[in-house]
Amino acid sequence: MPALLTVEQVNKSFQGVRTLTDVTFSLESGQVLGLIGPNGAGKTTIFNVISGIYTADSGRIRLADVEITNRAPARIARLGVARTFQVARTFNDMTVDENLRMALVTARLSSAEERRRVDAMLDQVGLRGARDTYVSALPDGQKKLLEVARAILLDPKLLILDEPFAGVSAEVIEILIALIIRLAGTGIGCLVISHDIVSLPRLCEEVLVLVEGKVLTRGPVAEIRNDPRVVDAYLGA
Ligand SMILES: Nc1ncnc2c1ncn2[C@@H]1O[C@H](COP(=O)(O)OP(=O)(O)OP(=O)(O)O)[C@@H](O)[C@H]1O
Ligand SMILES: [Mg+2]
Repeated sequence: MPALLTVEQVNKSFQGVRTLTDVTFSLESGQVLGLIGPNGAGKTTIFNVISGIYTADSGRIRLADVEITNRAPARIARLGVARTFQVARTFNDMTVDENLRMALVTARLSSAEERRRVDAMLDQVGLRGARDTYVSALPDGQKKLLEVARAILLDPKLLILDEPFAGVSAEVIEILIALIIRLAGTGIGCLVISHDIVSLPRLCEEVLVLVEGKVLTRGPVAEIRNDPRVVDAYLGA
C-alpha cells in the first residue's frame, strides 16, 4: 500500500531564491503529522505546492497512487485534498450557512441532502448558533472553525491545516483538536502546521521539522523538542 501522501524531492525557488530544497516526506491514512519550523522555513510554501497553488520546480507529489504534482488546485481538491489558510479565507459578506452551502455546490446534492450535511457540520464544529450570522461579524476563532468545516464537508482524504490554533481561544482549540482526532479516526490524513507545542503532542505522534526549506528531522514531539539542532534552528531564527 502506498502512503496517503508522498512528497518526493520537491524543490521551489522564487526569483532565484531557493525556498524548498529536496523536501521529502510521507503521511499515512489516519495519521496526524505536525509540521513545525521557524518563520520563513517554507511551511506554507510546501502546503501551497501540495494543493497546487504554487507549481514545484521539480519533484513529485502523490495522493495514494495518483500523481498530483502541479495539477490545478480545483483538480487536486476534487481528488481529495482539502486545506485551510494561515489567515482564514471565508466569504465575509455571506452567512455561516451560505459559506458551507457554497462548499457543496460542486457536489450537486439534492437540497435535502445538502441541508442534512450542513446541519451535521454546524453541530460538529459548534457553529449552529451562528448559522445565520454574517461571517464579517464572527470572531477570528469561529472563522477558523468555519474554514475547517468548509474544508471537511467534501469528505477529503487529506486535510492540510495552516496554523489552525494561531490567535484562537482555548475553547476553539479544544473543538479543533477533538475534530482533527475524530477525522483521523475515520482514516483521513492530517498535516498540521502549528507552533503550539502544547496542542501538538495531543494531536500527533510525530512532527516534521522544516528549516530553511529543508527537512531537518522527523520524530516524536518529545524527542524533537529536546533535539539541539531544532532548538538551535528556533533560537537562531
Ligand atoms: N509568492 C512568493 N513570492 C516570493 N517569495 C515567496 C513567496 N511565497 C513564499 N515566499 C518566500 O518563501 C519563504 C518561505 O515562506 P513561507 O511562507 O513558506 O514560510 P513559513 O514557514 O510558512 O513561515 P511562517 O511561520 O512565518 O508562516 C519566505 O522567505 C518567503 O518570503
Ligand atoms: Mg506560514
